[in-house]
This record gives sequence, structure tokens and C-alpha cells, in this order.
Amino acid sequence: MSAVVEIRGLEKRFGGIVVADGIDLTLTAGRVLGLIGPNGAGKTSLFNLISGVVRPDAGSVRLDGRPLDGMKMHQRARLGLSRTWQNLRLFPSLSVLDNLMVAPRRYAGESLLRLAFFPGVVRQAEAESRRKALQILERTGLADVANKPAGGLTFGQQKLVGVARALMNDARCLLLDEPMAGVEGQAYQTIQNVVRDLAASGVAVCVVEHNVAFIRDLCDEGVFMFAGRVLARGAVADLIADPRLTELYFGT
Ligand SMILES: Nc1ncnc2c1ncn2[C@@H]1O[C@H](COP(=O)(O)OP(=O)(O)OP(=O)(O)O)[C@@H](O)[C@H]1O
Ligand SMILES: [Mg+2]
Repeated sequence: MSAVVEIRGLEKRFGGIVVADGIDLTLTAGRVLGLIGPNGAGKTSLFNLISGVVRPDAGSVRLDGRPLDGMKMHQRARLGLSRTWQNLRLFPSLSVLDNLMVAPRRYAGESLLRLAFFPGVVRQAEAESRRKALQILERTGLADVANKPAGGLTFGQQKLVGVARALMNDARCLLLDEPMAGVEGQAYQTIQNVVRDLAASGVAVCVVEHNVAFIRDLCDEGVFMFAGRVLARGAVADLIADPRLTELYFGT
């Protein structure tokens, strides 16, 4: 199976805190990798480094073999590197549909000059974007609430909107930061189904979660992070049964 994201020798420190201490990690097409570890282990920081929110001190990230060094977040997003956020980052007063349509992706309307000289092209691009957003809302079970303000949805549905928005740029790799935190009921199952469906279509998925049952049920494999290091990689059931890792997870 082919590597979509290849991380080599990634290092990052904030003052005295080491958040990435020589991380090597590969995300594979069609596979779901679970990322577990205690608070402060560096899980979100790793997503920030991969997606270009934060610059590494050393090391490299490649997407489909292409080095991403120096690329900004939106450039990486255009290449198919998608993520969700631990704190939702939706526009609560905008409709669900509009939350998807403002997702960073490349379409003609982003240039004012084009808008001035080629309004037809821009309208066409917008129609295309709308069609795509509606398709994704269908796929994620959100079609019924497409025109409702995102802020009025249940928390679980809002999390789902975050996932849906991440799909607007034809993700090659999807990084999910605690998609299940605070989610219960219907949305729980839907998120699980959506992630499975994405992986089945060839996306490389990496999920950070403290909900270990979710990780165990969903992921093909798991990685345990602690203090900016990958300490172990293997079957999730084995990782959570390892007394050494459990002790690090829960503290002594
Ligand atoms: N921009 C930053 N500046 C300074 N310190 C930071 C920054 N980002 C993260 N840190 C610190 O790096 C450490 C790792 O944080 P990170 O958010 O990656 O942890 P995490 O594994 O995602 O934890 P959690 O499970 O609580 O979300 C923490 O001590 C955090 O305070
Ligand atoms: Mg985090």
C-alpha cells in the first residue's frame, strides 16, 4: 500500500517543551491510524506540524512524495492535506452549507481581478463549489440541516460539519483531532461511518482521540505518543493492554 504522508526526523520545541522529538511516521492510503497519548504528548502539535500551522525546527513532511517544507497551510490544503480542529472553528452564524463553501480551496472566486473581469467564470466556480458541498453534506448525513446556522446544531452535528468541511479539498490525507470529544448519540455512529467510508475510498486517515474504544473499533493500527516521541506502534488492543504505556497515559 502506498505512503501518502511521510514524516522523517521531525523536531520542534517551544522553549523548554519538546513537542516533536525525532518523529518518523508514515500514513498510508486506505488506512486509519489512531494516535493516542496523554494530554500534552504532542498529538495536536504533530497535526500542526504536518498541516503547516507550525514550522518544524528540523525534519521533513512529504505528501505523495512531494516535500512540503516551507509551504503554508492553505497550499498544503490545496494538495489534499485536510484536518479538523480540536476546538471546532466553525462560523456559528453561517449556514452549514456556507461553512463548507468558505473552506480554503482553490476556485476562481478567490481573485478580485477575476471577479471583476470574468464574473461568469466565478459564478460557475461557485455553483461547482455548492454542488460539491451539497454532495458532501449528503454523504455525511447533514443534508437536512444544510441551510441551518451551524451554531444551532447539536455539538455532535457541529463536529460532523468540521469533518465535512475538511472534505471540500479532495483530501488525500485527513487528520482528525478528537472528533469524538463531547459527541454522543447518532453523530457518534455517523462520524465512525464517514471515516470508514473515506478510508475505503483511499484516503490516509489519522485520528487523535482519548476515546480509546472509538480508536480500537475504528483504527487499523495505533501509535502511542509521549513527550514528543512515538513510543510504540501496533494493534490498538496491544497498545492499550501494555502496562508501561497505560502507566504513562494515566500517570502514576
Ligand atoms: N504554540 C505553542 N507555544 C508554546 N507551547 C505550545 C504550543 N503548542 C503546544 N504547546 C505545548 O506543547 C505541549 C504539547 O501540546 P499538544 O497540544 O500538542 O498536546 P496534545 O497531545 O494534543 O494534548 P491534548 O490531549 O491535551 O490535546 C503542551 O505542553 C503545550 O502546552
Ligand atoms: Mg490535542
